[in-house]
Amino acid sequence: MAEVAKLKTPDGKELDLPIVEGTERERALDISKLRSSADLITLDEGYVNTGSCTSAITFLDGEKGILRYRGYPIEQLAQQCHFMEVCYLLIYGELPTHEQFENFSRTLRRHTLLHEDMRLFYDGFPRDAHPMAILGSVVGAMSTFYQDSLDPHDPDQVDISIVRLLAKLPTIAAFAYKKSVGQPYVYPSNDLSYCANFLRMMFAVPSEPYEVDPDFVSALNLLLIVHADHEQNCSTSTVRMVGSSLANLFASISAGISALWGPLHGGANEACVQMLEQIRRDGSNVKKYVDMAKDKHNNFRLMGFGHRVYKNFDPRAKIIKAACDKVLAKQKVRDPIFDVAVELERVALSDPYFIERKLYPNVDFYSGVIYRAIGIPLQMFTVLFAIGRLPGWIAHWVEMHASPTTKICRPRQIYIGPTERPFLPMDKR
Ligand code: ACO
Repeated sequence: MAEVAKLKTPDGKELDLPIVEGTERERALDISKLRSSADLITLDEGYVNTGSCTSAITFLDGEKGILRYRGYPIEQLAQQCHFMEVCYLLIYGELPTHEQFENFSRTLRRHTLLHEDMRLFYDGFPRDAHPMAILGSVVGAMSTFYQDSLDPHDPDQVDISIVRLLAKLPTIAAFAYKKSVGQPYVYPSNDLSYCANFLRMMFAVPSEPYEVDPDFVSALNLLLIVHADHEQNCSTSTVRMVGSSLANLFASISAGISALWGPLHGGANEACVQMLEQIRRDGSNVKKYVDMAKDKHNNFRLMGFGHRVYKNFDPRAKIIKAACDKVLAKQKVRDPIFDVAVELERVALSDPYFIERKLYPNVDFYSGVIYRAIGIPLQMFTVLFAIGRLPGWIAHWVEMHASPTTKICRPRQIYIGPTERPFLPMDKR
């Protein structure tokens, strides 16, 4: 018989709550019958203790600093894989064979162009629009251009939507950047790899030759891989939640992009570099900022520090920090914010406040330093995160629809507002 936990309710009922165990021995109380059998719900703000689904995509152990996609350790994937292989792995469940990889890449290459009418959108956005706002809007608008592929229950329609999203997101993103700097849009070049093509669309201009730096391509490839999935984080849960209403894939991904934008989530990489810059301008007085972060009367937090799940070093931060050295070595002038970051990490990690709360650098702490070294402007950092996270969002959306137990996501609440009271006409209020 399956293991159960006993729950005694205030009115004396005894309930058996089944224990669900995952392949890595994580355990959960199955409370799906709680409301119908005991008229109780659970209350868990921020879903700190709540599993919203079972999933076979990503495993992470926050105590041990483990992250695996479909069973493969992130360290091995980051060192040995092409980002496209990781996309394939996350979405289809297995690493591609040579032939599968070639087919997948060839199909994507055929879809990198944007519809010319979509390009016209960019004329309407203000010059200083944040590229994350543009990204979310244009991805949402894809459902107006591809009305032939919006049915979540049709595998062929889902497949072509996946291809269109993966192929076009770098083009959408690079066009957003070109708009902000007033340069002509650079169309995709399908003989290049995913990352090389993106860098070219970002930095080439029609008047000059442009050579893609292979070290920048490898650094970008690594960054996209370490961002590719992170189980039920805020943006992925958003994609699942929106998708659970049977909204189409483009609409669901657009919602995920909005969730990622916030500074407590993907927006932290931009906020982190702004913070490092501020510390540098302020005489690199790292201790002052660590003290501010500890002060309960001050809203300031160390950006790029702390994580809901990792209570040990974030394995992604380790990989990125190691990659920093190689990319920074290419720069003629050492980026001073890297030194600020290293010192901030040293001071914070030896401070009891951070030790007791198990606050370590997260993925966003060093990623901005590499993006800067590659020449990516600050406002594009979170956009890069979105390009990396796209296969993870897609994989979760697809997994959710494939599950026979999926329901529309609709949490409950405990109402704490006024009880019934009579309506007062305006002249009596
Ligand atoms: N600086 C200072 N103190 C912090 C920080 C920080 N960056 N992060 C957490 N704390 C403190 C909190 O004040 C709290 O202290 P208390 O127990 O005395 O009240 C304790 O550590 C626990 O923090 P919570 O906010 O309860 O932890 P939670 O899991 O809700 O939040 C989060 C996690 C949002 C990532 C938080 O650590 C944070 O705001 N970090 C800065 C933003 C950031 O880097 N976000 C990127 C996360 S990674 C990603 O999304 C890709």
